[in-house]
Amino acid sequence: MKVVCLPGDGIGAEVMTAAVRVLEALPLDVAVESRPFGGGAIKAHGDPLPHETLQACLAADAVLLGAVGLPEFDGAPVRPEQGLIRLRGELDVYANLRPTRGEGIDLLIVRELVGGLYFGESGRRDDGSAFDTCDYSPAQIERIVRRGFEYARGRRSRLTSVDKANVMETGRLWREVVKRLEPEYPEVAVEHVLVDACGMYLVQTPERFDTIVTENTFGDILSDVAAGRSGGLGVAASASLGDRGPGIFEPVHGSAPDIAGKGIANPAAMLRSVALMLRYAADEPRLADELEAAVDAALATTPTPDLGGHATTDEFTTTVVESLAAAAA
Ligand code: NAD
Ligand code: IPM
Ligand code: MN
Repeated sequence: MKVVCLPGDGIGAEVMTAAVRVLEALPLDVAVESRPFGGGAIKAHGDPLPHETLQACLAADAVLLGAVGLPEFDGAPVRPEQGLIRLRGELDVYANLRPTRGEGIDLLIVRELVGGLYFGESGRRDDGSAFDTCDYSPAQIERIVRRGFEYARGRRSRLTSVDKANVMETGRLWREVVKRLEPEYPEVAVEHVLVDACGMYLVQTPERFDTIVTENTFGDILSDVAAGRSGGLGVAASASLGDRGPGIFEPVHGSAPDIAGKGIANPAAMLRSVALMLRYAADEPRLADELEAAVDAALATTPTPDLGGHATTDEFTTTVVESLAAAAA
């Protein structure tokens, strides 16, 4: 299996070191190569997604990504985040899975990842005003909503479609598409919830949700809210999948400039993203389960400072590697 690593910026590189240590400890035939991406790539190559990095990703079986973003690029004409958005578009990984598990919460957010405001007709300034366009075609909505139904069917068969149909035209189209597809999945119970109320329910009664399907920007925001209900960004993983070609496996968190360079980033989100890669790209569900169990155990015994503990990134990773070795023995 060919895995391209894009460590990126800030703690992205720190949690990627943890991921590579764990990958090398697994009984898996995997070739790992690292490529420039993000703010570092702008500095070295003038482009957050250099041509060679993109070609390597296109030729890979999976892409593992740390995080991008550096404060020094605030207000710059080219930003690290643009590389990430372009990469998602080039790989057409339209289905972003963001699972959250914890006390009283077990939900999956299925976020549309290559449309909406992020990809709308050029964000621009005109005569002092700023524009971002949200547009979705029925086909773009249909393919992500079908994914939502399919993942719900594999879980507790409850799908919450989140939109802003009371205000936005894209929200009304979204709801129409969900209603049109609903009869094709009679075993799935569907509800429609407006995004503002969904935020409240996620904070107050997250146990009411099973699978949530929503558009790009709402999914971005709601997945951080869900993470906040269950250990925070240090533990929230994601998988971005298309219909073919490599997926991208990355934590939900960013480059965390406030803790970068201190060696204390929680690698759990990254390692859980590796587990998602084992499940969805390597077809190794048993190894994925083992890695997830090892991460859960390390969270209990060796927590990093974001969870009130004192462990470093390296110490946490060592605990994971040791318990994987013990499980294999
Ligand atoms: P962030 O996710 O980087 O950090 C938010 C808070 O969570 C910070 O207090 C940080 O210390 C904490 N945190 C995040 N990950 C952690 C971890 N693994 N262990 C311990 N604590 C952790 O979000 P931000 O500060 O809003 O953004 C910083 C930069 O990251 C921005 O440039 C943003 O665009 C970028 N970003 C990138 C990605 C990505 O590459 N996928 C995702 C989100 C944000
Ligand atoms: C995420 C991040 C990205 C997004 C940014 C960095 C482009 O916040 O993966 O959640 O908004 O999708
Ligand atoms: Mn985000």
